[in-house]
Amino acid sequence: ADALKVALAGLGTVGGGVIRLLDENRDLIARRAGRPIEVVAVSARDRSKDRGLDLSQLAWVDDTTQLAHADADVVVELVGGADGPALALARATLAAGKGFVTANKAMLAHHGLELGAAAEQAGVPLKFEAAVAGGIPVIKGLREGAAANAIGRVTGILNGTCNFILSRMEAESRDFADVLAEAQALGFAEADPSFDIDGVDAAHKLSILASIAFGTRPAFPNVQVSGIRHVLAADIAEAAALGYRVRLVGVAEAGAGGLFQRVHAHLVPADHPLAHVTGATNAVVAEGNYVGRLLFQGAGAGAGPTASAVVADLIDIARGEFGTAFAMPVDALAAAEPADSGER
Ligand code: NDP
Ligand code: HSE
Repeated sequence: ADALKVALAGLGTVGGGVIRLLDENRDLIARRAGRPIEVVAVSARDRSKDRGLDLSQLAWVDDTTQLAHADADVVVELVGGADGPALALARATLAAGKGFVTANKAMLAHHGLELGAAAEQAGVPLKFEAAVAGGIPVIKGLREGAAANAIGRVTGILNGTCNFILSRMEAESRDFADVLAEAQALGFAEADPSFDIDGVDAAHKLSILASIAFGTRPAFPNVQVSGIRHVLAADIAEAAALGYRVRLVGVAEAGAGGLFQRVHAHLVPADHPLAHVTGATNAVVAEGNYVGRLLFQGAGAGAGPTASAVVADLIDIARGEFGTAFAMPVDALAAAEPADSGER
């Protein structure tokens, strides 16, 4: 069968991971997808940068937005940013009637409904498994695996950088800034790490996850957010002495007043499953009315795990297995009021 041709924007931590994964697992991916998946064109900011990747056989496109018009079936966006070139590329790609895969939770939290509508109108896939909880297949798990359930509550550790910082501070009594620098060096942090440590990245992800779980539109402005900037090693030690761990947790819960969404530092009892989630690991607990409690856990950030989720989306597209971008058509999402940013 013909190869699925991919144009790739962004060659940093995740983009580099995608090129390596498609190369290393080329044969098994082709067998599972039913056809080869080939990157044919790429774009990033600086063409001269040495990335340790062989790009010699690929077309280089200077203007990233123009990747929408490359000779490809699907565009993968791994640039980042809610607006700017990522959004321009998403709009141009969907308008050109091509599929779009992204790990960009900031863009989806702000523009998910618009992009979902554009994808539906064009009849093309919009996929974003990597945008929530890195390598964990939680979008697929909730959107498909738990699709028959009414979900009451979704709780999760959704930011690898914060979890890495909190667990290192706990285990090694290290300084916040020092551990943040290590998370940045490992490629976990956002380009602006205040998105991580102030809880914004987790809130972006929670709003997407809640949309999938509850069938509402992504409503980032409705999420109450605070982060871990002011958590001290002494706070963590004191919590530990009382039998608790400190974790940045996102909760989305259906209630009488609508959907309640919040992200903040929680005290988690040491015997709770989320207390055992350490390093850049993420975890999501979802409660369905027939399946009961589901626990998803795995690597929430980093090149390999995030590339794994991006390529899973490409395999679905190569197989022709994709539905609406969110758990239900955008018209139905837009009508469902996510409500309530207030206190319960
Ligand atoms: P990086 O900063 O490592 O890479 C970003 C890439 O985008 C670089 O190749 C950069 O080019 C390119 N780029 C940046 N600005 C522009 C621009 N204006 N025009 C064209 N290209 C540009 O980011 P990550 O790989 O870490 O993240 C990419 C996306 O994946 C983000 O949306 C992020 O939130 C998301 N994500 C990241 C995860 C992670 O663990 N890192 C996990 C899950 C999602 P150049 O290399 O030339 O500078
Ligand atoms: N900066 C994000 C994190 C990357 O630390 O979780 C994964 O989305």
